[in-house]
Amino acid sequence: MRIVLVGPPGAGKGTQAAFLAKNLSIPHISTGDLFRANISQQTELGKLAKSYMDKGELVPDEVTIAMAKDRMEQPDAENGFLLDGFPRNVKQAEALDEMLKTEGMKLDAVLDLEVPEEEVVKRIAGRRVCRNDSSHVFHVSYKPAKQEGVCDLCGGELYQRDDDSEETVRTRLEVYHTQTEPIIDYYKSQGLVVTIPALGKVEEVTQRAMEALRQKVGDKN
Ligand code: AP5
Ligand code: MG
Repeated sequence: MRIVLVGPPGAGKGTQAAFLAKNLSIPHISTGDLFRANISQQTELGKLAKSYMDKGELVPDEVTIAMAKDRMEQPDAENGFLLDGFPRNVKQAEALDEMLKTEGMKLDAVLDLEVPEEEVVKRIAGRRVCRNDSSHVFHVSYKPAKQEGVCDLCGGELYQRDDDSEETVRTRLEVYHTQTEPIIDYYKSQGLVVTIPALGKVEEVTQRAMEALRQKVGDKN
């Protein structure tokens, strides 16, 4: 199954992707996590990405598309993937379509997580992620780590993402509305979009998402 996850910053894309990818036996591919891994390894790509991420702006399409393509070509993604944070504008969506077309493949569904803005702000304000792997995500009230400041999954240090400051979050939300939301209409015209409310407990949202995907795609895997 080839799925794109879309939703505003803090909607719970990363949180849901971890469970959905496991349930569907496909890799979770997050361009944000890939950029953060590059930043912690201090690569050239990481340095470039950080200069945009810290301002809440999008990293240029050319490098983002090349990085996503490279990841999608890894053997574990042969039978499908769950994309989180990519594509993020219409140009990236067109590039993805082109990429899949040359391989004779296409997307199965675009899962749109709907969350009111005031909830998004609360989720981002309390988020803590692991220094070793930013896909290990916690929340000080909604999903506290067993030991404060320590990742339950790998023992890494938990910290607040540099782009989670109030000012940067405002820019990220604006970028989402102006640049990313148009991809929902782009995919609606292809009949791929399923929208689910992403409020409620994490596991309830996962159940809702699995049910919506089943209805959209059937049981194919
Ligand atoms: P990215 O890392 O993708 O950030 P984002 O889209 O802003 O989304 P977030 O990761 O902030 O939120 P999320 O939806 O994953 O929520 P989470 O599960 O953590 O991108 C960062 C930056 O990288 C971009 O700004 C850009 O600069 C760059 N970039 C990335 N991709 C790019 C691309 N394709 N092109 C160009 N640039 C790109 O959940 C949030 C919090 O809520 C957590 O604390 C969690 O525990 C909690 N939570 C989750 N679900 C629930 C629930 N049901 N109830 C209560 N709390 C919950
Ligand atoms: Mg995320």
